[in-house]
Amino acid sequence: MKTTTNAKYKTVSINYISIAVAIGGLLFGFDTAVISGAITFVTAQFSLDSIAEGWLVSSGLLGCIIGVAITGLASDRIGRKRTVILAGILFLVSAVGCAFAPTFATLVAARLIGGIGVGMASVISPMYISEFAPAEKRGSLVAYYQLAITAGILLAYFSNALLVHFSQHDFSSRMMTWFFVEETWRPMFLVMAIPSLIFLGMLLRVPESPRWLVWTGKKDQATAVLKSVRTPKEALQEIEALDNAKQKTEKRKIRLSDPRIRLPLFTGITLAVLQQFSGINAIIYYGPRIFQSAGMEADNALAFQIVIGSVNLLFTFVAIKYADKYGRKFLLKTGLGGIIFSLFALGALFHWGYTEGVVLLVLMLLFIACFAFSLGPITWIIINEIFPTDLRVKLVSICTMSLWVAVWLVGQFFPWLLDYAGAAATFWTFGFFSVINFVFSWKVVKETKGKTLEEVERVWHVGGSH
Ligand code: BGC
Repeated sequence: MKTTTNAKYKTVSINYISIAVAIGGLLFGFDTAVISGAITFVTAQFSLDSIAEGWLVSSGLLGCIIGVAITGLASDRIGRKRTVILAGILFLVSAVGCAFAPTFATLVAARLIGGIGVGMASVISPMYISEFAPAEKRGSLVAYYQLAITAGILLAYFSNALLVHFSQHDFSSRMMTWFFVEETWRPMFLVMAIPSLIFLGMLLRVPESPRWLVWTGKKDQATAVLKSVRTPKEALQEIEALDNAKQKTEKRKIRLSDPRIRLPLFTGITLAVLQQFSGINAIIYYGPRIFQSAGMEADNALAFQIVIGSVNLLFTFVAIKYADKYGRKFLLKTGLGGIIFSLFALGALFHWGYTEGVVLLVLMLLFIACFAFSLGPITWIIINEIFPTDLRVKLVSICTMSLWVAVWLVGQFFPWLLDYAGAAATFWTFGFFSVINFVFSWKVVKETKGKTLEEVERVWHVGGSH
């Protein structure tokens, strides 16, 4: 009877922690997607040329890179909890700053601040969850973070659409007319303040990561935290394992340049970059344009985005359910199989000009669905479990930084590739990178399901004694 009570309490607490921290992913998704709806309004209002428009978009990405670097350098010192709270504050400041920006320069600065928040959250949220999660549930709990990203993207599409609809109303107040009708982009950004406040509020009850506490010599606090999220027996076993791991780690004195770090680091970077080279963001954000180039109506763009966003969200549940049951590698290989098929088939449709009709839509949805249960969540899960605690934040930051650079590269070169090489060659290029990812995931990636982070170190041969 007692065990049942404990087990129930344990699940609720761990779920609360994972959901609270995962809202960082929701803000990540919202912040990166909101701009797609706001940009036309901002461009018109400030009469932006293409350089200035480029600044608006790239300021967010530049912020991400800065945010990742800050996290890599500071989180070991200030702790996981303070880092994640700092990210939440930056999201809030950015939402309010964008909404009330008096000039274009202020808007760019506020977007940069939001980008820093995204960068920080993209390192710390999945890492925090993975450091907290019991081994047998870690995959599914980190997948919550991916679910939150997809929810954030969808939320941004809905709220943008709703605000555009709202802007067609007549308001008696001058202030309301200015805010909602004349400068609709302002409330679009302000909406983000709501999840930011929820995020900050929920974080107050989230304890510090037990692994970080042990690592910084606060074993008593770590024990108390673990006792609140595990059964007393599990908590004591885990604290002992963490303490042992710490002592071994101190003895082995591994450095960033150590050859044993090379394989996991190479794996993390490769998975991060290849996740982006599957073309996911090109399909999410340029999907409507691809459709238009195939001769479809422009006004269906929003409906199309919402369908894509919903499939993306729904299929993430497959990873939540199966990442710990069938393992990371199985989902990666299966998902990549579908991704490769859909990308090559899409290329073929464009090559032979069969782009009308429902097949194009079905293939794009197949691509999104397969991404949503494989490359999306599994990349984040693996990056956050393959490094030893003492170096984790630095190495995860290097991988996440590579991911953001790859996001930038695709954003920069995709429109060019589409215009100059055509849609067929573009899809085949993404397909080619996904084939590399398939072989890599099959031959190089090691299975980590069900293992504690300390056991994972041994799988990758970076542990102290084996
Ligand atoms: C990727 C993002 C992408 C999102 C889509 C994430 O795993 O890192 O770049 O926009 O999935 O769901």
